[in-house]
Amino acid sequence: MPSQTLEQILDSRRSQPHQLIEVLQDIQQNSNYISEKSMQAVSQSLGVPVMEVYRVASFYKAFRLKPTGKIVLTMCMGTACHVRSSRLLLDQAIGQLGIQPGEITPDGLFSIEYVNCLGACALGPIVKENEVYHHHMTPGKLRKLIESIRSREMGVQNAKA
Ligand code: FES
Repeated sequence: MPSQTLEQILDSRRSQPHQLIEVLQDIQQNSNYISEKSMQAVSQSLGVPVMEVYRVASFYKAFRLKPTGKIVLTMCMGTACHVRSSRLLLDQAIGQLGIQPGEITPDGLFSIEYVNCLGACALGPIVKENEVYHHHMTPGKLRKLIESIRSREMGVQNAKA
């Protein structure tokens, strides 16, 4: 659930074109991705052409332009993680969740992504659960992590009901 509205984010940085990246970061942190509507609003608010907003948002791999599940599992496929069998982690996530990278589970809970380095090579293979890093991962640890996230999130849903 977003903690701020798009208008609140834009109001805090109105007419500050040099803060384009920070605004896009705020929007993604709040909504999990940057929609086309958000890019148009950013363009108007900062006075930056919409093509420039799109260029920046699509240039940086950290920005997502499509909706994701509530929990994004990011697998590192960089060299240091690859030599420690990170491909098996990706296969585990795909098999356990029944989705491919870029897709969302039918319950909206999980998405899978992969990147070329998460900046913690010595601790690989790394799996990121939203902003939380899990290091020295194995397929077994990942299976348990996914199960524990599912249990935790079902508990949250039951508590709200
Ligand atoms: S290669 Fe995986 S964290 Fe750098």
